[in-house]
Amino acid sequence: MALRTRLTDRLGIEHPILLAPMGSASGGRLAAAVTAAGGLGLIGGGYGDADWLEREFAQAGNARVGCGFITWSLARKPHLLDQVLLRSPAAIMLSFGALRPFAQIVKTAGAPLICQVQTMAHAREAVEAGADIIVAQGAEAGGHGVSRATLTIVPEIADYLARSAPATLLLAAGGIADGRGLGAALMLGADGVLIGSRFWASEEALVPESFKAAAVAASGDDTIRTTVVDVARKIDWPQPFTARVMKTRFTMQWHGRETELAEPAVVEREMERCLDAATRGDVDNTGVFVGEAVALIRDIRPAGVILRQIVREAEELLGRKAPSFLGAR
Ligand SMILES: Cc1cc2nc3c(=O)[nH]c(=O)nc-3n(C[C@H](O)[C@H](O)[C@H](O)COP(=O)(O)O)c2cc1C
Repeated sequence: MALRTRLTDRLGIEHPILLAPMGSASGGRLAAAVTAAGGLGLIGGGYGDADWLEREFAQAGNARVGCGFITWSLARKPHLLDQVLLRSPAAIMLSFGALRPFAQIVKTAGAPLICQVQTMAHAREAVEAGADIIVAQGAEAGGHGVSRATLTIVPEIADYLARSAPATLLLAAGGIADGRGLGAALMLGADGVLIGSRFWASEEALVPESFKAAAVAASGDDTIRTTVVDVARKIDWPQPFTARVMKTRFTMQWHGRETELAEPAVVEREMERCLDAATRGDVDNTGVFVGEAVALIRDIRPAGVILRQIVREAEELLGRKAPSFLGAR
């Protein structure tokens, strides 16, 4: 049984799995590995650094990869989109912020436009902007997001798209790290999934080994949504976004005390502490972006092995469970 969906047909890929464009973690090697395994890798453009993007696209070699941007940050460095479009990316993903004018630029360049959304209002905006693919991101997700759960936002957007934009494809994101998650997402009406945390804990991810080891040791109880790490790094995220991070000592020391943390003298000291600890891979004294899916991360393996296992599990589960699921209705 093959997991062929509208997504695999539309993007010309083998499996309905995209690598999330995780800022600084999803480099060229990881994106290329996900593509080589039959998914599609997206390089994490993050807050935008021209040299980093050049280097990571070079690392991807000839692999067909796309790129994702944090939209409100791209608005401050719009030339980065032109830089990436010159490389004929397999797709451009925009998350977190106003889609105009970037959506039109992407579409004019002929690249598939993927928009990650967190609310119904965002979903409607993405459809109006001409998104080819919408990623419905639940609050379980690692990194930035809002508060809706994957289990309800995916079918709500699936129903909305069926009514209002049937040609627009839907991906589920947030908490998907094994075949159960992929199978469930397809059952909820998604055409595929976008996976971050599970690939963040892969051999190719640009993540300190100590962070990955902390994820393996963590349970799903060990993450929290907070603004602490953004306040500490003086990154001014717009409302209503917060980030899911690990409950490190640093994060829990300041969670609930963000106003005090933002005081000039305090934030200068804590920013240095947080960034320095990140450079040294000191988990306790920094912020670590990862999702509730840590619950399902048991080992650090090559991304291709992870992807193929997710697909195998989902195929098995869907083959086994689909008849009884249908019979129960
Ligand atoms: C470490 C990390 C960094 C992330 N950075 C970005 C980013 O720069 N841009 C973006 O659109 N999404 C980013 N995300 C969110 C992902 O796009 C995606 O929604 C999320 O990883 C899906 O949930 P999961 O982590 O449970 O798989 C990040 C996620 C993680 C874990």
